[in-house]
Amino acid sequence: MARGFHPLSVRSIHRETPDAVSVVFDVPEHLTETFRFTQGQYLTLRTQIDGQDLRRSYSICSAPHEGVLRVAVKLLEGGLFSTYVNKRLQPGDVLQVMAPQGRFFTPLDAQNQRLYVAFAAGSGITPILSIIKATLFQEPKSNFILFFGNKGFDHIIFREELEALKNSYPARFSVHHVLSRESLGSPLFQGRLDGDKCRQYVRYIFNPQQVDACFLCGPEEMIFSVKDALVESGMEPSHIHFELFATSAPGMKPVAPASAKTALEASVTVVQDGMTFDFTLPSDGSTLLDAAMRAGADLPFSCKGGVCSTCKAKILEGEASMELNYGLEPDEIAAGYVLTCQAHPKTTRLVVSFDA
Ligand SMILES: Cc1cc2nc3c(=O)[nH]c(=O)nc-3n(C[C@H](O)[C@H](O)[C@H](O)COP(=O)(O)OP(=O)(O)OC[C@H]3O[C@@H](n4cnc5c(N)ncnc54)[C@H](O)[C@@H]3O)c2cc1C
Ligand code: FES
Repeated sequence: MARGFHPLSVRSIHRETPDAVSVVFDVPEHLTETFRFTQGQYLTLRTQIDGQDLRRSYSICSAPHEGVLRVAVKLLEGGLFSTYVNKRLQPGDVLQVMAPQGRFFTPLDAQNQRLYVAFAAGSGITPILSIIKATLFQEPKSNFILFFGNKGFDHIIFREELEALKNSYPARFSVHHVLSRESLGSPLFQGRLDGDKCRQYVRYIFNPQQVDACFLCGPEEMIFSVKDALVESGMEPSHIHFELFATSAPGMKPVAPASAKTALEASVTVVQDGMTFDFTLPSDGSTLLDAAMRAGADLPFSCKGGVCSTCKAKILEGEASMELNYGLEPDEIAAGYVLTCQAHPKTTRLVVSFDA
């Protein structure tokens, strides 16, 4: 599958909260297939901001049946891309956009009669909103419970859309807002959404053993504390799916070279879009991605922190190890995939495919 960028024009921008906007793209007829997506997937956007070529990933918040391609971007203080999108991007502007990617979903089937639960915090609602809308629409016998953590009411992204969904599916969808800086009357829904809160919801609101799939998206500590609480309370670990937007690990910044002492020089062949590219990866601790790009390859990447999986490729010959991995599932690693932004050769010969 080719993972290049395509120019898409911004159709409209909607202010969702004081610090978040959603952006709808126009998809020209000839790119309809390229931009077909599954609920919960994300887009990688790229543009020049003040002379810097920047790319970031944003989850799609629309559902496939809605026929629009829409993402939501929350402004992070000092954040380059999110500030640009919130303050400078205009309808009619063109961004470079990569085809949808990601595995943050479970397959839907109209015959399913399932219970889904999601925990979202802040902008973590974006992929979850897509998943909720698609599930309620495509599985008429399934139910969905959402726990959504925010600072206060004004910061709830998609508050009205969630209310409208509750009205459309009153028997099958419920949303519980959890606010850290405002009171909703019940201590159960006041404070930070975390493992302790989750333990209370498991006691009073749902039975974890009856949950078919649980989706988590938000800050790293929320995801891992809720995940631990769910497993502790008896939820099958394979039923828990999460999407990280960032990690506090140092890898979120461009990766520090691995120790040059242990680094190997390797002869590498990269396969991309059916073409091959050969280069020598020096023994200076560079990652596979960085070394290939320095040698002139134009490869897909976004976070360079082992989170987004945009740089995923399959090792066809040789072996590589990763510094960090927040993006690949165990079955992908077993099948030979690596995050090239985190990968270092363990053998002196490597063949790596971005097409596999
Ligand atoms: C798969 C995926 C999906 C994503 N979906 C969304 C989405 O739907 N909506 C959305 O708003 N963002 C989403 N993100 C996060 C997004 O890609 C950017 O990381 C975020 O917008 C910050 O970029 P920036 O250029 O504004 O900040 P930068 O200039 O890159 O960073 C500013 C500072 O914030 C820190 N930082 C970076 N990202 C985060 C974060 N998410 N939380 C806390 N601190 C951070 C950095 O370490 C740095 O210190 C997603 C990320 C991934 C990997
Ligand atoms: S670029 Fe995001 S995981 Fe490698």
